[in-house]
Amino acid sequence: MHDPAELRTLHLERFHAEPAVFAAPGRVNLIGEHTDYAEGFVMPAAINFATLAGISPNTSGKIAIYSENYREERSFDAAALPVKPSGHWSDYPMGVAHVLAGEGHRIPGFSLSLWGDVPLGSGLSSSAAVEVATALAVESLIGTSYPGPVLARLCQRAENQFVGASSGIMDQFISIHGQENHALLLDCRDLSSKLAPIPDEVALVIANTMVKHSVAGGDYPTRRREAEAACAVIARHRPEVKFLRDATLADLERWGHEMEPKSLMRARHIVSENLRTVAAADALLRGDLEELGRLMAEAHWSYSRDFEASCVEADAMVELAADLPGLIGARLTGGGFGGCTVNLVEQTEAETFAQKLGERYTARMGIVPEIHICHASGGAHRVA
Ligand code: GLA
Repeated sequence: MHDPAELRTLHLERFHAEPAVFAAPGRVNLIGEHTDYAEGFVMPAAINFATLAGISPNTSGKIAIYSENYREERSFDAAALPVKPSGHWSDYPMGVAHVLAGEGHRIPGFSLSLWGDVPLGSGLSSSAAVEVATALAVESLIGTSYPGPVLARLCQRAENQFVGASSGIMDQFISIHGQENHALLLDCRDLSSKLAPIPDEVALVIANTMVKHSVAGGDYPTRRREAEAACAVIARHRPEVKFLRDATLADLERWGHEMEPKSLMRARHIVSENLRTVAAADALLRGDLEELGRLMAEAHWSYSRDFEASCVEADAMVELAADLPGLIGARLTGGGFGGCTVNLVEQTEAETFAQKLGERYTARMGIVPEIHICHASGGAHRVA
């Protein structure tokens, strides 16, 4: 995480006012991909990359937002917030302001500085980190404090309704509720969750394929639509099936022939992924790392072959990790079509693993990857 003291200095120099500073982490998902919007299960962990937000009130009636990452400032009229996105980085913080205004809050003028080290477009939820950090900052200004799950929904709404990305609840939820050294099994239906400790001997090695990923792009919503079409077919026979969370592999056997072949494949991934995710949480809780690794590998190939959300580079990153000493499990993490793989690796082997994986990937793909040895971190908070 960047140094909050530096953000404070930066804010003071630019806006001449003392900021309150908040931090919200990115996340890595261990297993459970494209299951959240199907009201299924996910098992992410917050990571030690975060967005910092510094906020101070002003009397100009303007919302001034500065991003240190983009080295750019934008200004808006607080009394007439934009109602539409502009395809700009400021859509994420302004989406949050828009949603809070929609909840009946009067949004006053403020100055906001943002600075994050969550790699952008890498499937590690840099957008959720910006939304959650902004939400905490604005909350402090207007004197509200929503319960975590409600705040997560509001941030998701900023992304769905303002930014225009049809993402689920996972990223915002874990950015708020992450716990040091734990993954979290989240039931995306009722937002109940269970913490699963990540043993000290296990490192989270995150390997960036350097292929850009975007939830707002076309592939994510296409997959979602294809999966929902499969659900609609099952619902014709079993009206109690509202989401793929409610469907079984037997339903797919029985009515799969009525579905478009691609829809059937997408649904097979989601239905089997829900089973794997719950089983993976069980395995982690009872310390069966071998089983966890096996489930992660199965999840990767289901994501790649049935969901067709991987890419040559991510498949290579997973394959090249498979026989490296210390590997417990590897798979593509996040929304897909690029981004990062998550590797659970024995702590004592993590450095060598990272180095070898990098060399192998460069030799095969001609791309130098960024590989980070991370740990599961706490959720969003005010920085003292
Ligand atoms: C993105 C979305 C999440 C989730 C994942 C895929 O990160 O923001 O809601 O759907 O993709 O699991």
